[in-house]
Amino acid sequence: MCGIVGYIGARDAYPILINGLKRLEYRGYDSAGVAMLQGNNIGLYKCKGKVVDLESITENNDVSGKLGIAHTRWATHGEPNDINSHPHVSNNGKLVLIHNGIIENYASLKEALIARGYTFNSETDTEVLVNLIEDVQETEKVSLEEAVRIALNQVIGAYAIAVFSLENSDHFVVAKMGSPLVVGLGNQEYFVASDATPFLEYTKKAVYLEDGEMGVIDLNEGFKVIRINDSKVVDPYVQQLQLDLAAIEKGGYEHFMLKEIYEQPKAIEDTYRGRLLPEQNLIRMAGMEEYIEKFVQADRIIIVGCGTSWHAGMVGEYLFEDLARVPVEVEYASEFRYRNPIITSKDVIIAISQSGETADTLAAIKLAKKRGATIFGICNVVGSSIARETHAGAYTHAGPEIGVASTKAFTAQVTVLAMLALKLGREKGTIPTSKYQELLWELNSIPTKIAAMLKTDSQITEISNTYKDAPNFLYLGRGYNFPVALEGALKLKEISYIHAEGYPAAEMKHGPIALIDENMPVVVIAPKNGHYEKIVSNIQEVKARSGKVIAIVSEGDTEIKSSADFTIEVPDTLEAFTPLLTTIPLQLLSYHIAVMRGCNVDQPRNLAKSVTVE
Ligand code: AGP
Repeated sequence: MCGIVGYIGARDAYPILINGLKRLEYRGYDSAGVAMLQGNNIGLYKCKGKVVDLESITENNDVSGKLGIAHTRWATHGEPNDINSHPHVSNNGKLVLIHNGIIENYASLKEALIARGYTFNSETDTEVLVNLIEDVQETEKVSLEEAVRIALNQVIGAYAIAVFSLENSDHFVVAKMGSPLVVGLGNQEYFVASDATPFLEYTKKAVYLEDGEMGVIDLNEGFKVIRINDSKVVDPYVQQLQLDLAAIEKGGYEHFMLKEIYEQPKAIEDTYRGRLLPEQNLIRMAGMEEYIEKFVQADRIIIVGCGTSWHAGMVGEYLFEDLARVPVEVEYASEFRYRNPIITSKDVIIAISQSGETADTLAAIKLAKKRGATIFGICNVVGSSIARETHAGAYTHAGPEIGVASTKAFTAQVTVLAMLALKLGREKGTIPTSKYQELLWELNSIPTKIAAMLKTDSQITEISNTYKDAPNFLYLGRGYNFPVALEGALKLKEISYIHAEGYPAAEMKHGPIALIDENMPVVVIAPKNGHYEKIVSNIQEVKARSGKVIAIVSEGDTEIKSSADFTIEVPDTLEAFTPLLTTIPLQLLSYHIAVMRGCNVDQPRNLAKSVTVE
């Protein structure tokens, strides 16, 4: 996720800005930059890489200035490189802007600006915004703050921005919609950042802007907050921060993994933003559209990945076969690459990888590409090796995933797979219009349902405490939720070190049932619309052998509640989207058990976040 920092006051801005960027490094980024107002000039330094790389550029340059902004970029539009790094300067050289977020309608805005003579150096949506503000200011002859406000009323998407003008050394403007932004109120000095870590030692007085608000910071006039839509002045809530640095980096959560579990509503919204358009009965995915004929004509889709990404691919198999009626094979990348697979030009390979750097997955797609297949990527890191190796792709916009155990990336991957399957099914005519509309609106509702479900966390803590010392767990699921059983088992074993196995529920009779006794907790994923009667029988089989059952059930389920030892309710949804909901309690169950066992949740033993070696 991008990080923004700004300062205006009596101190030198540069040290505050650079140290502020270092405090925001945990958010994950691929480039960094800083700009200071220096009389009639702007001292602008930016580059691909880390903050230390930025410092190696600035160390022999003029970094003076009392007003400045700085940025760490997590690429969303345009790959990581020097030109795409922030800050961005407008055409007339007077405005300098940094931005965290995604502007959905940047392409149409850019087209209009080009028609009015504007030129662009980068591929970013941010450079469009800074020139839009310039265009408004030049055309309407208004103040910077009014130009920002008018421009933002033309923008669709998410942003946290800071912008200053060469023409006013006492003044800068910030604005927020969908991305975090906090203003630190010092004594005759002001700070702005994505969270409070960059300025905590200077002031603990802070205003967290609300969506749709902008802040006007002026050394002479002071700080004011106005509403973007109608310029009405807002009386801001000034709070006294109590948090320490470490806590803020994790957003107040004890671990990154828990923070990322709770970020899933936003991660899914950001992933389908600008793509899932239920009001237009439309799914827009440029990468797929470019290769739609390859998808429509495909003999089969082969999905390759590792670990959690492989589990997402397993959900993808059900989605594509159910909705688009296309044959799908899901392969462990490490097996696929070595078994001399039969691949033709009629195959579409979907490579799934959060990091975009997993060696086996990269090798698998290079092999498939060499043999003529079309390669489509689903990655969470823009410009990553796998993303660059594919013919096309669709990024998840889950933001950086710091915890080694993948959580929000998984649900974001499944969201992309659902949109791809829906789009292909629509293209092939395998989904009736009414069903298609129902599916689009239901997918649109998932973030709200996850947010509601996250409130049941305390109930899961009780279950975790009951079973935290079990030596083994069994996870059972059917249909769409069989991959969820696999994923739930992986989550538990990789962070709590308890052995766990996921199985298709019907398979239990073919062996695993021999394991069932009073010491074996069995997690059964049993939503109403997912082979319900069959899974109820499986629960009875476990209970008949004194097994302990933790059942994931649909809200209001009473039948299973009467026989299971514990039940965790999830909101109702269409069968195809149940994995997006049933996964959440399993993430929380593994998290709490791991914490209770004193495990290192964010960096489990023996594990790396990205396996870039074979
Ligand atoms: C999942 O929690 C693990 N961190 C691991 O299985 C991971 O999913 C796997 O290594 C694949 O990583 P990737 O998605 O970055 O390719």
